[in-house]
Amino acid sequence: YQGGSAALPPMGWNSWNAFFTEIDEEKLLGSAQRIVDSGLAQKGYRYINIDDGWWLKRRPRDGKLLIRSEKFPSSLRSGKGDPSFRPLTDKLHAMGLKAGIYSDLGRNSCSQAYSTGEAQLPEGSIAEREVGLYGHIDKDIRLFFADWGFDLIKVDGCGIRAFGEGSAPVKSGKYRMLAPLIDQTSVTRSDVPAVQDLFRQINQSLARHNPDNDYLLSLCVWGSANVRAWGKDYGNISRTSDDITPHWARMLTNYDSAVRRALYAHPGSWNDPDMLFIGQGDFDAQHLTEARSHFALWAMMNAPLLIGADLRKTSQPLMDIFGNADLIAINQDPAGHQAIVAFDSDSLQILVKTLANGDKAVALFNRGLASVDAVLTADHLKFREDSAIALTDLWTGAQSRFTGEQAMTVAPRQTLVFIAKGDRTLANGLYLSEQPGNINP
Ligand code: GLA
Ligand code: GLA
Repeated sequence: YQGGSAALPPMGWNSWNAFFTEIDEEKLLGSAQRIVDSGLAQKGYRYINIDDGWWLKRRPRDGKLLIRSEKFPSSLRSGKGDPSFRPLTDKLHAMGLKAGIYSDLGRNSCSQAYSTGEAQLPEGSIAEREVGLYGHIDKDIRLFFADWGFDLIKVDGCGIRAFGEGSAPVKSGKYRMLAPLIDQTSVTRSDVPAVQDLFRQINQSLARHNPDNDYLLSLCVWGSANVRAWGKDYGNISRTSDDITPHWARMLTNYDSAVRRALYAHPGSWNDPDMLFIGQGDFDAQHLTEARSHFALWAMMNAPLLIGADLRKTSQPLMDIFGNADLIAINQDPAGHQAIVAFDSDSLQILVKTLANGDKAVALFNRGLASVDAVLTADHLKFREDSAIALTDLWTGAQSRFTGEQAMTVAPRQTLVFIAKGDRTLANGLYLSEQPGNINP
């Protein structure tokens, strides 16, 4: 995607995983302040994104969206009559941060189709609230970017049901299932051009209202509508699966949806296996091994690093994971190569990512609950068979060397991550494949 500014995967924070629709200004600014105070902003975490839940009731007749101003009191502080997010984005910008907003491709947002709550529709209701972009694209994009000063928009796909042939929403236990689009078979052929065309219109509006091109577009149709084929030409990040939850198995599903898509990722457009869920459930402070693995895998895949935790309450060991400068550097490496899978077995995967300086980042990931005896070889790294290879462990800083192959033990659910330096020059002066299976358009 040529528009926007995503030469590197975006980093920041999003409200959804921690607060769902109960986001407010205090929660958001509390996390933003911690990002600045803890030094994470300095390390690249810049986007502070409001997800679903910021709307009040339905779109009024004059078409202009209303903010839940009891949740965002600063929206009443602007000179003009209408509530505005400008004071909030001004504040974030003054903190050296960027601001993100959320909308939907269709007539409703996901929460309005599926959840209950003060500003939401009753459970099961599918009444139209017209808060989504459908029919309002250019006006809303102008409002969000030109008037309110946002820098990013996430465009969800729940409300698309309103004009497609999707089925009724269903709810499965605590976590909603995205029946309308996630089931590829429920999207008719005729819906796909409709979805694509709406994103084309959004692209045009974004270009019109962001003359400096400093914006970011997040596509959120979960791998449906054949987005895997065209998403890279229409957005800066594109979701590859349904929502992540704070469960190990669900994290694996989201990881699997993106890990073999290195061909797709390139500067300007990245795979998005969803926000980090570090801080809750299987990734809380009692599960640092799992939390570290989640972070390392997202770093290796060039995934957006969007923190989903209430940072006002996040303990230091978890903050240290977000702040691991070496892993951030892997994610933000200017070459923009997503890791490829160099070795695969039921329990162990070895991911290798070629860095701009020719070094390799390598991750040995144990998916299961038993220790694994792994062997890392020069061939996995595409280094010469006889090369001396130097490893630096990015969790412990420990250094080691080997030639040929190196045995290691990977603990249950652990991800070892190293920078590997070696000799990639062949005897005849040619390089071994730098990044098999990757392209960099
Ligand atoms: C969808 C998206 C989530 C989140 C919610 C908000 O499920 O995939 O990331 O934005 O909607 O309702
Ligand atoms: C529930 C789920 C969230 C999200 C919302 C949508 O709250 O837990 O993941 O899907 O529904 O409203």
